[in-house]
Amino acid sequence: MKPLRKVVIPVAGLGSRFLPATKAVPKELLPVVDKPLIQYIVEEAAEAGITDVVLVTHSAKPAIENHFDKHYELEQELIRRGKDELLEIKRSITPPNVRIIGVRQPETLGLGHAVLCAEPVLRDEPFAVILPDVLMYHPQKGCMAQMVELFNQRQTSLIALEQVDDSEVEKYGIAAVEGDDLRITALVEKPKPADAPSNLSVVGRYIFTPRIMELLQNTLPGAGGEIQLTDAMAELLEEEQMFGYMFDGKSYDCGDKLGYLQANVDYALRNEKLGNDFKQWLNQRCETL
Ligand code: G1P
Repeated sequence: MKPLRKVVIPVAGLGSRFLPATKAVPKELLPVVDKPLIQYIVEEAAEAGITDVVLVTHSAKPAIENHFDKHYELEQELIRRGKDELLEIKRSITPPNVRIIGVRQPETLGLGHAVLCAEPVLRDEPFAVILPDVLMYHPQKGCMAQMVELFNQRQTSLIALEQVDDSEVEKYGIAAVEGDDLRITALVEKPKPADAPSNLSVVGRYIFTPRIMELLQNTLPGAGGEIQLTDAMAELLEEEQMFGYMFDGKSYDCGDKLGYLQANVDYALRNEKLGNDFKQWLNQRCETL
């Protein structure tokens, strides 16, 4: 199989869970401390050796591609004012060796449909998918880099999994697994707790063999009337082996207001410049709660 070089990041969603913040600002550009969510995601992909980032976007959200584009006037102004540090921050938004490619999803018909929109760029290569709502933190090696290492050994599709409370299974894709190597035996999108095959949730990091694209072309609308990636994955399971991966690290569901706040607190505490002052303030603040 060809080496894994490409990632699909679906960013066409309307962000309705996060209104009013996301009326005019794409949810992917909401900052965690001082960096937009999507920048963390692109950095995670770059760290995994991915060179081509395919953003599946929407006409209402050009700001996402603009974030990664050159801004000549801003750079010239920072140079003129001798703001070297800011210039460096600005220039390192897109990691070196990474190309940002935009494709459109004209209608939001579901996650499976969003991935299918990237098909002309992917051709017959294996590829990763990262859902930008979920931030994954690991101090040394990001979740996607961990998964690419495993993919290089196994050459099969992989899905990052995480245990959730039984009451939460309705919010996620849920996987049944077998054996120490976590071979996936079933996948269900947003099951009722009584129908869930386990409490292992799909967290938004995937690696696929090229076959998934062919299956997506014939996937019919499923849960919520949307073309579901999980349904195409369930079909892929009948033809190829697929494994779960219990990633090492901590996840933050930033599509959810509470998860987003938790990410901001934890990332601020870890921040090199702000961390100590913020910790001191937070400690004092907690004493008065
Ligand atoms: C999507 C997927 C689901 C997955 C989840 C992770 O759902 O369809 O399988 O568990 O992302 O965040 P969404 O959150 O877009 O409804």
